[in-house]
Amino acid sequence: MSRRHVHLDHAAGSWPKADGVLAAITRWYDELGVGAERGDSALTREVAHEVDATRRALAGRLGVAPARCAFTSGATESINLFLRACLAPGDRVLATAIDHAAVVRPLVALGRERGLSIGRVDCDACGRIDPQRVIDAIVRRPPRLVVLNHASNVTGAVLEVAPIIAAAHAHGARVLLDASQTVGVLDVALGADAVAGSAHKSLFGPAGLGFLAVTADLELAPQKQGGTGSSRALDEHPRDWPLAFEAGTPNTPAILGLGAALRWLATHDADAARRRTLAALDALRARLLERRGIVCQSPGDGDARLPILSFTSRDHDPAELGALLDLAGLHVRTGHHCAPLVHAALGSGAAGTVRISPGPFVSAADLSRVASVLSPA
Ligand SMILES: Cc1ncc(COP(=O)(O)O)c(C=O)c1O
Repeated sequence: MSRRHVHLDHAAGSWPKADGVLAAITRWYDELGVGAERGDSALTREVAHEVDATRRALAGRLGVAPARCAFTSGATESINLFLRACLAPGDRVLATAIDHAAVVRPLVALGRERGLSIGRVDCDACGRIDPQRVIDAIVRRPPRLVVLNHASNVTGAVLEVAPIIAAAHAHGARVLLDASQTVGVLDVALGADAVAGSAHKSLFGPAGLGFLAVTADLELAPQKQGGTGSSRALDEHPRDWPLAFEAGTPNTPAILGLGAALRWLATHDADAARRRTLAALDALRARLLERRGIVCQSPGDGDARLPILSFTSRDHDPAELGALLDLAGLHVRTGHHCAPLVHAALGSGAAGTVRISPGPFVSAADLSRVASVLSPA
């Protein structure tokens, strides 16, 4: 594999991928070439077996029955489908300031369409949210749905969701957990009614694949209708899961790639890797803070967090710093990171932040190059 750059944009997508992922995808294109639900041949059965195994491994991580785990094109599609299926005109929804645009935008659009009432709980200057504030908001005015982003993709702050889920259930609310940033690195089987995420971040799978997992007691009408391979004689889309939420030809090669990623993850200590990367990132943070005018927006030691460091400079636009790093072969992300609401609390509303989000394959030496580029000795 050629590595032209140091990938410091893991929060957007992991790179390189887990061992076996490319081989599994290539094998589908080279040797298999068929979908799991589209025929009765030996080849179809072989592919169906692999798709099932992937679904079972993923569902195990999410804490749902495999049949209740649908493959989608990504977290964005999962969240859109779920919100449309779950919310009725006039419903109240409680969300938070750390939500990704994949939640904010469909909620705003659906809010207009269906007259939803949307409440939002604010975060602090590092993207942290006190769970008690969410619980208080639930108790004050119980919503139909609480949407929780398990971790901010801008600052890495992890939201303590378990007590919020318990309070939501005690007050008759459902919970959608956006586990896009945490699935694969933290436990996400925390009792939410629905979990959405993508394959290409900390699951180390391919892009263009995601999942929507929903508990068995939540009845949802299909939101997209189309071919499913099975139930061919029906002119109505089947309501049984997972096909209810899988219309059209699935991304089978990506599903096989995810299967390989999940096998790799099962042998890999994601928490140890997260701690190692956090230690290297903390060293970088200390060096950056020596530079005049740098302000860090990510939480520090002692907080629940992912290895994401967002910072701004009083003297330079994030895009300028990003361009300097780019010239040195360090691929970071600058701007608002598709999280439109959080920047008001972070003080980065104008131009966003520089975000350094290393995955487990990035070394401490690679990270220290960031400081060398930004604060030459
Ligand atoms: C917290 C969060 N939610 C949702 C998404 C959307 O994921 P996708 O673009 O894979 O649909 C992302 C992607 O960055 C994210 O970080």
